[in-house]
Amino acid sequence: MSGGLFITLEGGDGSGKTTQAELLGAWLVESGRTVVRTREPGGTEVGVEVREIVLHHRGDIAPRAEALLYAADRAHHVATIVRPALGRGEVVIQDRYIDSSVAYQGAGRVLDPEAVRGLSEWATEGLAPDLTILLDLDAASARARLDSARTRYDRLEAEASEFHDRVRGAYLELAAGEPDRFLVVDAASPVDEIAAAIRARVTGLL
Ligand code: TYD
Repeated sequence: MSGGLFITLEGGDGSGKTTQAELLGAWLVESGRTVVRTREPGGTEVGVEVREIVLHHRGDIAPRAEALLYAADRAHHVATIVRPALGRGEVVIQDRYIDSSVAYQGAGRVLDPEAVRGLSEWATEGLAPDLTILLDLDAASARARLDSARTRYDRLEAEASEFHDRVRGAYLELAAGEPDRFLVVDAASPVDEIAAAIRARVTGLL
């Protein structure tokens, strides 16, 4: 993709993805790269509306409808933001991508993970990240971090700890299955240590 680099960050709620995305972005900009920082859901105007539904709708959303909403957000985001940036040779640093759907809608909501993945592969015409950073944190520590940072939980954060345990298990399985694409870091480590590990891995890709 003409020099572009697609980096995604994954992990449970409260695992520190946003902090690490900021640090990595700043470091890449200092080293002269053009960086696009974005996220799913909600990386586009349409996506902001979808995000409002999936995270804050009062009442149930059928699991398959939820999976389709995330896939719809992703289709529009990839077509209008991510692919154009990669085509210009830029670095895209993105909070959450297809692995989130496989972990949350697949393992969390208990839908067939391969069907969930297939939906997103269709939505994105098969765009895969060059690197996925998994910030791994046990559900109890993640919950403690969220409790100190939040006054109100969104629909996914409010799920029981068994849900978040399944999400974490699914992430670790995904990472074990694709070690070349994933960097797994212990999200309980100091922020600077995590950032250094990420920079070391990204350096090898530049
Ligand atoms: P995120 O933006 O990381 O939440 P916050 O900004 O509040 O930390 O993610 C929003 C939620 O959406 C998160 O709980 C995970 C969930 N999610 C899915 O269930 N499936 C998906 O495909 C994506 C992208 C996110």
